[in-house]
Amino acid sequence: MTTAVATGSRIIGTGAALPRQVVTNAELAERVDTSDEWIVARTGIRQRHIAQADETTATLAIAAARAALDDAGIDAASIGLIVLATATPDNTFPATATKVQAALGCNGGVAFDVAAVCSGFLYALATADSLLRTGMARRALVIGAETFSRILDWEDRTTCVLFGDGAGAVVLEAGDGDAAAGILGTRLHADGTQHDLLYVDGGPSTTQTVGHLRMRGQEVFRHAVVNLSNVLKEVLEDTGHNAADLDWVVPHQANARILDATARKLGIAPEKVIVTVDRHANTSAASVPLALDVARKDGRIKTGDLVMLEAMGGGFTWGASLIRM
Ligand code: COA
Repeated sequence: MTTAVATGSRIIGTGAALPRQVVTNAELAERVDTSDEWIVARTGIRQRHIAQADETTATLAIAAARAALDDAGIDAASIGLIVLATATPDNTFPATATKVQAALGCNGGVAFDVAAVCSGFLYALATADSLLRTGMARRALVIGAETFSRILDWEDRTTCVLFGDGAGAVVLEAGDGDAAAGILGTRLHADGTQHDLLYVDGGPSTTQTVGHLRMRGQEVFRHAVVNLSNVLKEVLEDTGHNAADLDWVVPHQANARILDATARKLGIAPEKVIVTVDRHANTSAASVPLALDVARKDGRIKTGDLVMLEAMGGGFTWGASLIRM
């Protein structure tokens, strides 16, 4: 369905979903040679949610999408576009977004997945925003959903303690007129030369297995702080703002030390940074919309607030988006 061309888009609802089972650091220490003290000191993570057999990327995405639709107070029938960011789809194909579409009963519109790992939600949001501006649809669901527990090497203490499962979703609505509201500016980047620092060692076209996540953590850490602070500066400059104007930063939740170091580099007060990594660990593409939903529902992020979303992940890929809520 094609509708009138729009000048922008804004978030009118958010939602989230987490698997039932919570796994603490102490429980992980029974499986691998680690400790609660080490994990908390190096990452800020205290627990994560882990999907059980009946919970998949699609079931979490559907629950998050329903919560976002409820929050927006709209019916699924008005959704013409679903963009779902994931690196852990239910199946190689079709796209997990089409499972969400079928469950919600809004068939006939556009539905597809994007793969940009931990920055997937930023890529999905920018894609949906662009398509709404063309008039492709009036309302979109943008979802980040992951079950990274299924691609972790549970014998590798350097990675298995860092990740969790979950989903977050936003409803994006095309708007026209108010240039000072909605998504104000976005920058995305990729650098494929850094593939070997963070990747999965399997896939349908190589090993015909799902594979496991592999990471050189220290190097990823260094790149993350530099890339994220640079992309935040770019978006601030593009939109004529400075760091002091921000009411909130909703970062990708990889490691509390990355959040602290990036905020310090830009002179952003730590109390303006939304932190959920302690409860959710790194949920990859789900982490930004999950954190956004937490901070909206607990009353911190309000309508009118200036909010910066940012993320970096495997590829490398990274990006940031400035939003007037
Ligand atoms: N428990 C206990 N010890 C562990 C451990 C664990 N879970 N994981 C690693 N160690 C050990 C290492 O083996 C190493 O031991 P050694 O000194 O005897 O060799 C020691 O702890 C220090 O390891 P190091 O890798 O230097 O730690 P670090 O301070 O860099 O922290 C990360 C490791 C992974 C937490 C950190 O590098 C990081 O967060 N990187 C970014 C990862 C990330 O965000 N990825 C996702 C981006 S989307």
